Amino acid sequence: MTTTEPADQLKRRAAEAAVGHVRHGQIIGLGTGSTAKYMVLALGDKVRAGLAIKGVPTSTETAELARSQGIELLNHDQAWQIDVAIDGADQVDPQLNLIKGGGGALLREKIVAAAARQFIVVVDASKRVPALGGAFPLPIEVAVFGWRSTERQIQAVSDAFGYGGTVLLREKDGQPFQTEAGNYILDLHVPRIDDPAGFETRLNEIPGVVETGLFVGRTDILIVGTQQGIEVRQAERR
Ligand code: 5RP
Repeated sequence: MTTTEPADQLKRRAAEAAVGHVRHGQIIGLGTGSTAKYMVLALGDKVRAGLAIKGVPTSTETAELARSQGIELLNHDQAWQIDVAIDGADQVDPQLNLIKGGGGALLREKIVAAAARQFIVVVDASKRVPALGGAFPLPIEVAVFGWRSTERQIQAVSDAFGYGGTVLLREKDGQPFQTEAGNYILDLHVPRIDDPAGFETRLNEIPGVVETGLFVGRTDILIVGTQQGIEVRQAERR
């Protein structure tokens, strides 16, 4: 009889494999979410065994976990030379483009990924999709000021791309969810994003859009935890 491992085991498997890429003396971008949590825990084990690294956390939650694991953190205003950033994703397409931001940390996550020499994405097999969109909405971080006007413009851009869909203000406990930067998140529900690069560019041109959860052409290595083990894909170029 074969048993099916829960998604959590697959996340852990991918995260631990990613930590195998970390070298002594490096500066590591620390992602956010349940998969990234396993990466921080695995790094903590290595640090306790003598590995010297410094971390750049993408959220308060990750910073607290990293500190509890004895991982030294760099301040926000230090000039980082991040060697490797490791983070999860909500969706991954065959070109290794991502939707991120399910946890609302997309702004810091994108800044850290962009600052890293190598960006490693860790997911369980359920995150692989033939095209971005559909089951998972695209998170878009927007300034609180004028957000209803920004929302209208996001809808207009989506319509112009032929994606249509609906924009919903993310809420938590009946209140608008606010990111660590004090912004709102608009979740754009569309059936399919055929042109993630063009869509990301156009959305970022809207005043009021702070950043989108589309990570296009940023993944260097994808590590997928599957029932059979791990699968690794290397991007052809960045
Ligand atoms: C947080 C993120 C996460 O990486 C993404 O939501 C995946 O989370 P998880 O590993 O818990 O499935 O982008 O903003």
